[in-house]
Amino acid sequence: MTTGSSSPESDAAGSAGAPLAVELRGITKRFPGVVANKDIELRVRRGEVHAVVGENGAGKSTLMKTLYGEHRPDEGQILLDGREVRFRNPSDAIAAGIGMVHQHFMLADNFTVLENVVLGSEPTRGGRLDLAEARRRITEISDRYALGLRPDDLVEDLGVGDRQRVEIAKVLYRDARTLILDEPTAVLVPQEVDELFGNLAELKREGLTVIFISHKLDEVRRVADSITVIRRGTTVGTADPRATTTKQLAEMMVGSELPLPEKRESTVRETPVLELTDVRVDDGGGRPAVDGVTMTVREGEVVGIAGVEGNGQAELVDAIMGLRPLAGGEIALAGEDVTSWSTRARREAGVGFIPEDRHRQGMLLDAPLWENRILGHQTRPPASRGVFIDRSGSRADTARIMQEYDVRAPGPDTLAVALSGGNQQKLIVGREMSATPRLLVAAHPTRGVDVGAQAAIWELLKDARAAGMAIVLISADLDELIGLSDSLYVMLRGRLVASLDPASCTPEQLGGYMTGARTEAGAA
Ligand SMILES: Nc1ncnc2c1ncn2[C@@H]1O[C@H](COP(=O)(O)OP(=O)(O)OP(=O)(O)O)[C@@H](O)[C@H]1O
Ligand SMILES: [Mg+2]
Repeated sequence: MTTGSSSPESDAAGSAGAPLAVELRGITKRFPGVVANKDIELRVRRGEVHAVVGENGAGKSTLMKTLYGEHRPDEGQILLDGREVRFRNPSDAIAAGIGMVHQHFMLADNFTVLENVVLGSEPTRGGRLDLAEARRRITEISDRYALGLRPDDLVEDLGVGDRQRVEIAKVLYRDARTLILDEPTAVLVPQEVDELFGNLAELKREGLTVIFISHKLDEVRRVADSITVIRRGTTVGTADPRATTTKQLAEMMVGSELPLPEKRESTVRETPVLELTDVRVDDGGGRPAVDGVTMTVREGEVVGIAGVEGNGQAELVDAIMGLRPLAGGEIALAGEDVTSWSTRARREAGVGFIPEDRHRQGMLLDAPLWENRILGHQTRPPASRGVFIDRSGSRADTARIMQEYDVRAPGPDTLAVALSGGNQQKLIVGREMSATPRLLVAAHPTRGVDVGAQAAIWELLKDARAAGMAIVLISADLDELIGLSDSLYVMLRGRLVASLDPASCTPEQLGGYMTGARTEAGAA
């Protein structure tokens, strides 16, 4: 191992000479058929932000779950402040000062900030929940770390950045001294990322230690004091963010060079594939979630929609897929009015779908990969032959997708739950692209996939577009939106508030429209 970050000279964090808060020695964790972690070493100093990077399936989440007491290592030792600990479960880890924010938030939507934070660790006075005391502590935590939380806000009304701060507050409320954040920025727009990094700086100032996982290497270099790179389950080295380029980091991770999405000649043809006319969707509470959206997507065109999460993009996608009824307006597919069609009818008419929440919409986690391969595609080959499910055909085609899309798992009979986040995503992309749809609705198609797989998915989308596929692209990755889109809209409070030229706009400009800081007179 190189030890670029342990040099004695002081750095901005002042943590270079600090004692080790966390040390993992020789951690090995096996699952049936997979060695997820193999003899991993991780050394994290007190008061630093330590990034862990690596390809999809490299073993990052597994390692963090081991540190958090969700897994027990088969071999190796965990040391906190130089003393060995053994955790039976997360409660043990919490008691030892470890907290974890998982990538999928685990908040209860219809509860307040206060309720969510205390849930599971209610302070009691005479056996009863002491709300006044809980409120006092939350306010204190929020002030001390500049989290800006209001205890009585309903979580369902909060944006994604605030939800994340509630998760962080929940961990701090339990007196964590070391915070693990698993891909915290995957769902954030640039302004929110800046806010989060501001919060991390506050945590550091108070002497807390942060372990941070991300696939966004520029960001890692910006925020981390030191970096550990893991590859195929084992540590390949540490890097000093100030002395390592993004390119070098990527090469340490995957061992190859990576292209950025660049523009190609326009492939937009005349024929409209999807036409939305004044589409309206209610949010269930009588308020408009989508408030009069009109747009056209043509053959060979990628239409990108940018927006801070929670501004109606998810509802718009649901409307296009027939997952939610319209409160008004019309949807046409290849010239035919499909407004009243079922999701299944739309899919059979050639609409592919990469859903935003793969756990809720795209996958059956407890089913094998081959069943996930045919999910939503049951009625045509290779899933079925006549009226029967074709198991062997499905298995063979799953194996093909695993090969072509680099889904790393033992085989088609592996359960989806055993795949790393990025590998689940690659399987869904492979499944949807394999049906060669006329229209592809892609919500965050590369969320959680590593830089190598991201470049591969970009290439696939560009090839499909060149072959005439129409694509609606929703993404929180602004480089991806700018790099892939032929037309680009910004969605804010249910409306398309700006139409931008991807050839000339920058991520900063886009971000400005997304938060409403910039406005455009002639918007749709
Ligand atoms: N519960 C489980 N059962 C079986 N195998 C598992 C389980 N959890 C993880 N694995 C396997 O362990 C390996 C490491 O997975 P892990 O989730 O730690 O990867 P990761 O580095 O977090 O990847 P990503 O960036 O895609 O989230 C993968 O091969 C995965 O399939
Ligand atoms: Mg992971």
